[in-house]
Amino acid sequence: MQRKPLIAGNWKMHTTIAEAEKLARAICENGIPNDREVMVAPPFTAMKAVSGAVAGSGILVGAQNVCWEEKGAFTGEISPVMLQDAGCVMAILGHSERRHIFGENDTLINKRVAGALKFGLVPVLCIGEKLEEREAERTFQVLEEQLRKGLEGISLKSADELVVAYEPVWAIGTGKTATIDQAQEVHVFVRSLLRNLYEKNIATGLRILYGGSVNSKNVDDLMGQEDIDGALVGGAALDSTSFSRIINFK
Ligand code: PGA
Repeated sequence: MQRKPLIAGNWKMHTTIAEAEKLARAICENGIPNDREVMVAPPFTAMKAVSGAVAGSGILVGAQNVCWEEKGAFTGEISPVMLQDAGCVMAILGHSERRHIFGENDTLINKRVAGALKFGLVPVLCIGEKLEEREAERTFQVLEEQLRKGLEGISLKSADELVVAYEPVWAIGTGKTATIDQAQEVHVFVRSLLRNLYEKNIATGLRILYGGSVNSKNVDDLMGQEDIDGALVGGAALDSTSFSRIINFK
């Protein structure tokens, strides 16, 4: 099955509105090949400006988190409807920084996944093991738990409703990338878990991204792997030249 590659840029807590607009425009100017999909996830404050800047380019706008409720007393949260209002179509959920700095657990992340889907946003569910878990040979166990709990009660009608991102925590922002073999091995494992959860066409069609120090130098090798369907990029997504090179992986 052909899975359309997705290159996603997670801008994290970077860029003012003006900086975000400038970055978005520069990425658009460099062009997007039409055999791949591109998403950028700016800070909430810049989302509307970025949506305007990328309009007509095919670039999708994503959020870095989302609440499961449309509105109400949820101080500090952002609703799926508010995000859509600002042009957002996807949401990165369960990112390791949300899990490990802000204490989000699988139950909470599962509510966010369900909420995103209910309102028509595509969740990009992030899973990943910490260094000590890898060293203790618990990688598969940790990933299975995060995936099962994160997707508990989540039914899908098609493969384009959800994206999974494998991001080994020890590779995020550290300059250490998983080796191609490490990444490919995990992606095959994640695909097998998805086959247990969803019917064949959906499990085969879901995209599994790799994230963790992806850059313009390692992207071609990573994307050359059969089971790596895209990249979730942090640091290298903040520079239009490097992000455009990543988008144009060979
Ligand atoms: P990085 O971040 O590319 O800077 O390692 C990836 C991520 O956190 O999604």
